[in-house]
Amino acid sequence: MFETLMRVTARPQPFAHYTTPELWNDPHVSRQMLELHLDPDAELASRPAGFVELSAAWIVSRFCLGPGRAVCDLGCGPGLYTSRFARAGAAVTGVDLSQNSIDYAREAAAQDGLTIDYVLGNYLETTPDGPFDLITLIFCDFCVLSSDQRGVLLDRMRAMLAEGGSVLLDVQSLAGLAGVAETTTVETAPNGGFWSADPYFAILNVFKYGAERVFLNKYTVVERNRTRESYNWIQCYDPGGLSDLFAEHGLRLTEILGNVAGDAYDAEAHEFAVIAEKADQIRV
Ligand SMILES: C[S@@+](CC[C@H](N)C(=O)[O-])C[C@H]1O[C@@H](n2cnc3c(N)ncnc32)[C@H](O)[C@@H]1O
Repeated sequence: MFETLMRVTARPQPFAHYTTPELWNDPHVSRQMLELHLDPDAELASRPAGFVELSAAWIVSRFCLGPGRAVCDLGCGPGLYTSRFARAGAAVTGVDLSQNSIDYAREAAAQDGLTIDYVLGNYLETTPDGPFDLITLIFCDFCVLSSDQRGVLLDRMRAMLAEGGSVLLDVQSLAGLAGVAETTTVETAPNGGFWSADPYFAILNVFKYGAERVFLNKYTVVERNRTRESYNWIQCYDPGGLSDLFAEHGLRLTEILGNVAGDAYDAEAHEFAVIAEKADQIRV
């Protein structure tokens, strides 16, 4: 037991493990995630419905989404944003690695009579060619990526952009990191819960890496016959750091915002959003 706890609570190197695909495709967890996406009040898989509504309306208006405009939503989940973009008349592509979410999104689009190109896949490995007038990555998914993965994704985004096209994404801020404290907690779920339908214990270790501006929520889920680990890394940014990173990949930040609903940037807030375009874009 002592050795096991020592191992479970040992501090990993930042981004040493990438478990995102397993998290979103575990049969039980992905069903829970889909319920959370669709719960209008929940803020775990997607933001609450009221925010999504405002945000999608702002994006449609800000980026003139309508007939003749092409948009790609990376990590589209069950299609909360893609469906709204398609209703505005844009040509919409959604990419997600969760089979459950893509199945739901395809069925919902068919029922609503919307034509949306849903691609099941990992956007670090495969992305649609484009060109896209807008690429979105919403709900701070950029923050879970390692340095190498960020580079891969930014290069892919740049290659997908149409001339004059934009990237819109949101990230967690350094203000959010300041409030993070290292803790260890144990959840007991004798009747099952989020992680499994069977009884389990979930040990949550929060690790903070101040110099690297990263924190980690590491879950060790212990069931009778199986133990698994889920690593939720969060790289926190300030606008300057993000601007430098984008510049390394041929992208230029053109706007810093408070969120993906177009609110003003607030240095004290836990999140912010950016709009970027190709650095060598010719302006007319
Ligand atoms: C936090 S949810 C946000 C969903 C959506 N953007 C929203 O705001 O409603 C993250 C989504 O990204 C997907 N995802 C995470 N990493 C991915 C990857 N590398 N490739 C494709 N999809 C990914 C997950 O399956 C999940 O549906």
